Amino acid sequence: MTYYQLSTLCFILIIINDGLYALNNGLALTPPMGWLAWQRFRCTIDCNTFPDECVSEQLFKTTADLLVSEGYAQVGYEYVIIDDCWLEPNRTVEGKLQADKKRFPNGIKALADYVHSKELKFGIYENVGSKTCEGYPGIEGHEEVDANTFAEWGVDYVKLDGCYIDEHRMDIGFPQFGKYLNKTGRPIVYSCCWPFYQEGKGMKVNYKLVAENCNLWRNYGDIQESYSSLMGVVDVFAAKQDYWAQFAGPGHWNDPDMLLIGNFALSYEQCKTQMALWAVLTAPLMMSNKLSTVRPEFKSILQNKEIINVNQDKLGIQGRRIYLDQGIDIWAKPIEPIDEEYYSYALAFVNRRTMGTPFVYEISLKNLGLTNPKGYIIMNLYTKDDTVKHILKPSSQIKVLTNPSGVVFLKANVVTKYHFTKFEYTMDNDTFLFK
Ligand SMILES: *[C@@H]1O[C@H](CO)[C@@H](O)[C@H](O)[C@H]1NC(C)=O
Ligand SMILES: *[C@@H]1O[C@H](CO)[C@@H](O)[C@H](O)[C@H]1NC(C)=O
Repeated sequence: MTYYQLSTLCFILIIINDGLYALNNGLALTPPMGWLAWQRFRCTIDCNTFPDECVSEQLFKTTADLLVSEGYAQVGYEYVIIDDCWLEPNRTVEGKLQADKKRFPNGIKALADYVHSKELKFGIYENVGSKTCEGYPGIEGHEEVDANTFAEWGVDYVKLDGCYIDEHRMDIGFPQFGKYLNKTGRPIVYSCCWPFYQEGKGMKVNYKLVAENCNLWRNYGDIQESYSSLMGVVDVFAAKQDYWAQFAGPGHWNDPDMLLIGNFALSYEQCKTQMALWAVLTAPLMMSNKLSTVRPEFKSILQNKEIINVNQDKLGIQGRRIYLDQGIDIWAKPIEPIDEEYYSYALAFVNRRTMGTPFVYEISLKNLGLTNPKGYIIMNLYTKDDTVKHILKPSSQIKVLTNPSGVVFLKANVVTKYHFTKFEYTMDNDTFLFK
């Protein structure tokens, strides 16, 4: 059983979070939210076999339509982002990038205009090396003209990948392209797959440099369509949290990759777990799913406003795994409101046990690092039922009932003076059950 002094950690984080490392473009002050094609659609270019799933103008227009009509835009999902395989194999005679003429018959500018007409934002993919990972033209040697092309097209977000380049040269290539993006004068969120490749080679990543140049960055390998892939990413983020978490903050985020929710592999419990953990990790919330086929129970996970609010908390403090105990992982993220020196917290209890029955875990608030003597009001973010009639004190015990591979996700708000008149205290020996 491991326990970290949360209050001490938070104090350190606040100092570091003070914009020290930030890319100063005023963007992504909370983790960006939207939709990115890769995980679900990959490099599908066969539009005969997959007419509504190939990487094409139609896919992105339909996605923009559904983001709005299905209510995703209203809760904050705003970026529609193309990934690899959108390009013609050759540049124009003037040396400019061009989209595949069959799949994007009206070109990228027209698509960006369409996305903007829905009051959404538009993102695109390129690669810092000579080719994209799937072998299309990369930006190397064309950095300035490509940045200008993106700005002309109305691009609001660039994901820059890291294939076909020596990892050591990334420390030059990624900042250089960022400078050209900045020079266009257009506000463009800059997402860098930079640490991911360097970590993969066992290099020591200069995260300070990364955070000064990118709004977000991938730290680790691509997420794949399975629960074990998902939890593999999560375990790496937990293992590295004491180093990585300090670089997250308004304008600059660690990125554990896309949400798998609404696709084939994850169960309902597992989808709830990913959404809770991505909120705790202050991760960019990028769906990668076929919006026309997302079932209602998955849609309600993706659109859970309370959980999105945890992810979008203004403090932007990346949460941490604070306990591994009896197969239950407990994650905590400090959030607003703050009363004097006491934070509120989002708390995720993730069941890693493989026995078929739900499990009840019992712990005091104090042992979770919740020490505000005035107490806390706790809400269950999935069931929405809460203890609003009760104020729990640091000595109060809670019981948390989780299903295998599932989560219980709580928000513990610090009690302020205002609450005193409206709520009753629990007795010292009361225990509350959350499930
Ligand atoms: C397209 O580019 C490839 C190299 O990437 C080159 O070999 C080929 O000649 C080019 N084709 C045209 C039509 O320019
Ligand atoms: C360019 O960088 C400067 C200095 O960091 C910043 O003030 C400005 O907002 C940036 N402009 C854009 C369009 O990113």
